[in-house]
Amino acid sequence: MVFSKDGKIPWRIPADIRRFRDLTTKTSDPSKQNAVIMGRKTMDSLPMGFLPGRKNIVISRRLSKRLKQTQEISVARSLDDALEIAGADRNNVESAFHIGGARSYADAITHPDCAGIYLTRVYSDFECDLFFPAIPPYYKIKSQSEVMKDAGLNFMYINYIRS
Ligand SMILES: NC(=O)c1ccc[n+]([C@@H]2O[C@H](COP(=O)([O-])OP(=O)(O)OC[C@H]3O[C@@H](n4cnc5c(N)ncnc54)[C@H](OP(=O)(O)O)[C@@H]3O)[C@@H](O)[C@H]2O)c1
Repeated sequence: MVFSKDGKIPWRIPADIRRFRDLTTKTSDPSKQNAVIMGRKTMDSLPMGFLPGRKNIVISRRLSKRLKQTQEISVARSLDDALEIAGADRNNVESAFHIGGARSYADAITHPDCAGIYLTRVYSDFECDLFFPAIPPYYKIKSQSEVMKDAGLNFMYINYIRS
């Protein structure tokens, strides 16, 4: 499954962007936020450098000098470190979502604490230089949508749960 080209996602589906925002932002407890955990290059690709309304945790092994811990961004050395940061703030954090990119997804989907995967399948051909990792067989499809169309592209949502 292709994923990204030259540091950017090569498609833009507004309905999928809205769903991503809703899934990662909405909480059942209005006093809490969700955490979004991402690799450093995914953070670099965000227009604002972080996602508002969520606790942003960035994984950087090299802790590059220009990566600054700010009010919006916590910096972690590994996925386990990121989960620890989210867990330590459980009075304020409801759920944690790993949002990419390809390198750190590979760690995330095999992590024992990963409960499921929200996948958007886009039916088109794109030239890409990064690929989504293979989904291990212990993930089962929990639900899937109809094929929908937006911005000229056919796509569907597939929700996997760890069995
Ligand atoms: N299609 C989609 O849904 C989607 C979703 C998210 C992102 N993306 C795209 O994915 C691209 C970025 O993905 P990417 O894979 O290049 O980078 P990435 O995973 O976002 O970031 C990689 C960086 O994160 C740190 N890191 C975290 N875990 C690591 C590990 N296990 N091994 C090595 N480094 C690790 C390192 O930072 P340091 O170098 O600072 O040590 C590494 O350089 C962007 O183009 C973004 O637009 C696409």
